[in-house]
Amino acid sequence: MPVITNIQDLKRIYERRVPRMFFDYAESGSWTEQTFRENTSDFEQIRLRQRVAVDMSGRSTAAQMIGEDVSMPVSLAPVGLTGMQHADGEIKAAKAAEEFGVPFTLSTMSINSIEDVAEATTKPFWFQLYTMNDEDYVRRLIQRAKDAKCSALVITLDLQILGQRHKDLKNGLSAPPKLTPKTIANLMTKWAWGIEMLGAKRREFGNIVGHVEGISDASSLGAWTAEQFDLSLDWGKIAKLKEMWGGKVILKGILDAEDARMAVKVGADAIVVSNHGGRQLDGALSSIRMLPQILDAVGGEVEVILDSGIRSGQDVLKSLAMGANGTMIGRAFVYGLGAMGQKGVTKALEVIHKELDTTMALCGERDIANLGRHNLLIPKNFEGDWQG
Ligand code: GLV
Repeated sequence: MPVITNIQDLKRIYERRVPRMFFDYAESGSWTEQTFRENTSDFEQIRLRQRVAVDMSGRSTAAQMIGEDVSMPVSLAPVGLTGMQHADGEIKAAKAAEEFGVPFTLSTMSINSIEDVAEATTKPFWFQLYTMNDEDYVRRLIQRAKDAKCSALVITLDLQILGQRHKDLKNGLSAPPKLTPKTIANLMTKWAWGIEMLGAKRREFGNIVGHVEGISDASSLGAWTAEQFDLSLDWGKIAKLKEMWGGKVILKGILDAEDARMAVKVGADAIVVSNHGGRQLDGALSSIRMLPQILDAVGGEVEVILDSGIRSGQDVLKSLAMGANGTMIGRAFVYGLGAMGQKGVTKALEVIHKELDTTMALCGERDIANLGRHNLLIPKNFEGDWQG
């Protein structure tokens, strides 16, 4: 087994182990992938202030996210098809998150169902909701999340229609994979993945199959979103969903100051500054670049979570020092899951924690709550001089 010291090590193992179709799904942005690339390259532009001769003993990364204690402010983002990256992927990721003391978010488009994850865990997880045309189905989905004692509803706002990802279309992405000569040839080189997948609890979308009728193709994310997702989702509907849920609500996919203010108005408990990992509106600016103006717009009235582009503990630190209250990681944990299952997710969290903790110390900070702009060196033109 190679020595794993960073998230890229996990990604290399993941790429070898998992069928190309699912690796490509995770590793794609939409269209030219400009936003996908800039989500990570913009983090590199921010530098850190080294401080010395500061007592580094007794450091802590413990914090709170939406009032929940966390060992570090890093939550697992909702990722569709996680159970195709590794057998029982959502169960394994949720267990790793629980053990590590960070929140796990289950996607509507997961393979393991809400009930599967609830049964396998002891602490509440977060449930991510996509709104659909079938209102009754949405009502039942929300009720299922309530019954599972989920502690927050994460409503995704940036995917009423799917941004085009070339590779998914060319690969014929589906869950389970459709057997074509191309997929068979690739699957034959992924025998370890395949053997485990044969023993998986599920290989289809667990929150959908068996819960809705009259779907033309329940195995295709593209077909399902095009047919079922609610194009008319607006702030009025969001307010209704919030009322129906009755608990904590996190609005995910905010990338604009005006939308952030609307989220405050509607009474969100937290917003996730996100461009969906560069998978939706290609050409949008990176989350980290948009963060300062969104923080200004909400003025501390809502918790702000930064998503899209985080691949290291240093990226987490930069986000927090810029003013975010917490972060979300998607690909960074999927690499670990695809590489080594539950152990790989734990490894990803350990890597990120160690990077965060050591960087904090070298910046002269002992308590994560004290991170701030004073720890950063931000290029003068970082936010850019854009004209509308
Ligand atoms: C779905 O959430 C996706 O980005 O594929």
